[in-house]
Amino acid sequence: MSVNRGEFGSKLGFILAAAGSAVGLGNIWKYPFEVADGGGAAFVIMYLAFCFILCFPVMLTEIAIGRKTNRDAVGAFSALGFRNWSIVGKLGVISGILILSFYNVVAGWAFGYFVNMIVGNFDIGNQFGDFIKDWITIGGYAIVFMAMTALIVSRGIQDGIEKAAKFLMPSLFLIILFLVIYAITLPNSGAGLEFYLVPDFSKISFETVYGALGQAFFSLSLGMGALITYGSYVSKKDNIVSSAAYITLTDVAIAFIAGLMMFPLVAFINQGDMSNVQGGAGLIFVTLPGVFESLGPILGILIGGIFFLLLSFAALTSTVSLLEVPVAHIVDEYKVERRKAVYGMAALIFVVGIPSLLANGAVDFLSAKTFFGFDFMTFVEKVASDTFLPLGGTLITFFAAYIWKKENLHEEIAIGYDGYGNSFVKKYLDLAVTIICPTILSVIFLLTVLNIYFKISIF
Ligand code: PHE
Repeated sequence: MSVNRGEFGSKLGFILAAAGSAVGLGNIWKYPFEVADGGGAAFVIMYLAFCFILCFPVMLTEIAIGRKTNRDAVGAFSALGFRNWSIVGKLGVISGILILSFYNVVAGWAFGYFVNMIVGNFDIGNQFGDFIKDWITIGGYAIVFMAMTALIVSRGIQDGIEKAAKFLMPSLFLIILFLVIYAITLPNSGAGLEFYLVPDFSKISFETVYGALGQAFFSLSLGMGALITYGSYVSKKDNIVSSAAYITLTDVAIAFIAGLMMFPLVAFINQGDMSNVQGGAGLIFVTLPGVFESLGPILGILIGGIFFLLLSFAALTSTVSLLEVPVAHIVDEYKVERRKAVYGMAALIFVVGIPSLLANGAVDFLSAKTFFGFDFMTFVEKVASDTFLPLGGTLITFFAAYIWKKENLHEEIAIGYDGYGNSFVKKYLDLAVTIICPTILSVIFLLTVLNIYFKISIF
């Protein structure tokens, strides 16, 4: 079976690649506007709680299943002897295709902004609406982005994915840190920090709850087998508990500091008035160019250019993992040659993404709130990240606890971690996969379905 599937070269390589998958547009583009739309700090608290209490166990479970089986997200379930459960992996492959279809469009925007920054066109922030409407230009950037993704994925594990992640992640971290410090020195930044850090629980609605959960899954790349797939390339010597902890902490930290960057900037631009913060997909694209401009022409081009370049790279290490899931599936299960699988899938997903590409002003009915009250791109995003991913997480934990059996899960995790048997992590994971995750996730999933598709809300 395992004819040179590839393996990560080192534990650090895996951590960086998985953190590269996790850190992306989800942290820097999506997280700030979800926080804004979710009412600020109350959303943040819920998001953090979900990441650590619910998502961390899902992550460990995914990595363990992947490493145990050495197979793609679908084949992993069959390899454990439960062919029927491979439907969970199929749901994951479909989620990956849906997410990449719109994610690639937004990644194209980020890349387009990089181009605009280096020519000093800071006005692009004010023209965001026209920019995303211009489907020829946007389509061009999206094609370029998908091609870069395919190129990396076709080069396989060590050469492509691992190398790219190693130096990009730390660079991104540094530039955001620079922007946080700059943002905090601006007038009115305090109002932004207050909005971000001081919770107002009266702002919580059920949309806030499911938004925070969907965001946690999306940001950590969970619930669709991305980490089953990456886990399948992990060495038996590694301690996957500590790997999962590093991945989660890195991802959450980058999202959190992206918020520390954004909200002071928003407060600066709104002159301290945070009563009516507009979130939405434009938040960073509208706000940031003006901020870069305020740094002066040279520094502005430099910082603005580097920022959007690194954002594009962060997106690239995520699109790579999104494409890897369906690719690994057809390579492992249908024995398709890797190159063919990569380019075929990339083309298919680009086509699936065309309606999303056109849903930002280019085509009226796709852009209007025609789809359960959302434009087409937002709708795909809701279906995938707010419903499919938590559903995947529910099924994966339920499967591990009751079908595969939790003893087997523990046995796999203990490989590479000597003290696991008596650890707190083991006790918590046990409780999480048997009770906490399956129940809480399935309840929120059902209520989310009622909310999004039937417009019934309990609060
Ligand atoms: N986690 C990525 C991000 O935050 C997106 C992603 C979701 C990647 C699901 C893989 C799987 O940008």
